[in-house]
Amino acid sequence: MRPVTLLLLSIALTLSAPSFGAPGDVSATLSELMNRLQLQHAKLWFAGKLNNWALASYEVQQIDTNLEATGKLLADPSRARRAKEKLQAVREALQSKNLPAFTTSYAGLTNECNDCHRTSGFAAITIQTPLTLPVPNQLFVDQVAEGRALAHATCGTCHIVADATSDMPTVRPSAPAFPEIVNRPSFSADGLRQFLTSSHRRLGPDQAMSNPRLSEYQIEAIVAYLDTLKPAPPR
Ligand code: HEC
Ligand code: HEC
Repeated sequence: MRPVTLLLLSIALTLSAPSFGAPGDVSATLSELMNRLQLQHAKLWFAGKLNNWALASYEVQQIDTNLEATGKLLADPSRARRAKEKLQAVREALQSKNLPAFTTSYAGLTNECNDCHRTSGFAAITIQTPLTLPVPNQLFVDQVAEGRALAHATCGTCHIVADATSDMPTVRPSAPAFPEIVNRPSFSADGLRQFLTSSHRRLGPDQAMSNPRLSEYQIEAIVAYLDTLKPAPPR
């Protein structure tokens, strides 16, 4: 077998192995876990900073799982436990949507990453608060929240945006309510995109809806928000 094939085979075996034999396997698995932690640590920062509480909580959960797995690989699991305690402080900050507490607890977590690296003999691996987005293809803002705010601001004068008890459009007669529109069989995300990018200045039988002239980014936010008004599909 060629060396590359052997290497790939051993990686495949390491990844699929339920228990870890040789110390080399442990190190490879640890490094694998750590590379995931590194990405999740960076994503957590931008999600939290941009008030995307749901995404930040998701990343906290991912980090928690990986720290748990890290503890199982180490002779002394107490360091991983300490890191999980620091992570718990981040979780609490997110639950109370407290940005200053998030920043402080995030720094505590980062310090704990580095403390463990130093005490494990890997002092050269130093983690910091990320300076740039970790990936170019993911949004860290809460797109649904932006869409909701935009819909209330630009559509709410005519449409009931969420539900009739919380919204009262000022225009009479009012346009169909969004919860009703999204439940029409004819409704689709692509249809809505097209409708909102249409160059028609006036739409509808009574020519009541002026083209809102939204940017592509705003249209995607509104599409994302309206999607959440649909009843959840059975899982
Ligand atoms: C419980 C101890 C411990 C904690 C906590 C810990 N690490 Fe590590 N980390 C290690 C060890 C041990 C290594 C070296 C693994 C190896 O190569 O054998 C490592 C290596 C790394 C590496 C280098 C991986 C590579 O292959 O280049 C990164 C990146 C990393 N850790 C990120 C993090 C981040 C981010 C955190 C905090 C969210 C963190 N670590 C928390 C023990 C820890
Ligand atoms: C000036 C009032 C007004 C504003 C502002 C407005 N709409 Fe409308 N909209 C209407 C009226 C009236 C209708 C019903 C027209 C019809 O039945 O064709 C309508 C219909 C729609 C429909 C249904 C289209 C269809 O295929 O039947 C959608 C979707 C829609 N609006 C989305 C929006 C969104 C999203 C916004 C904000 C970006 C918005 N509207 C802002 C008045 C408005």
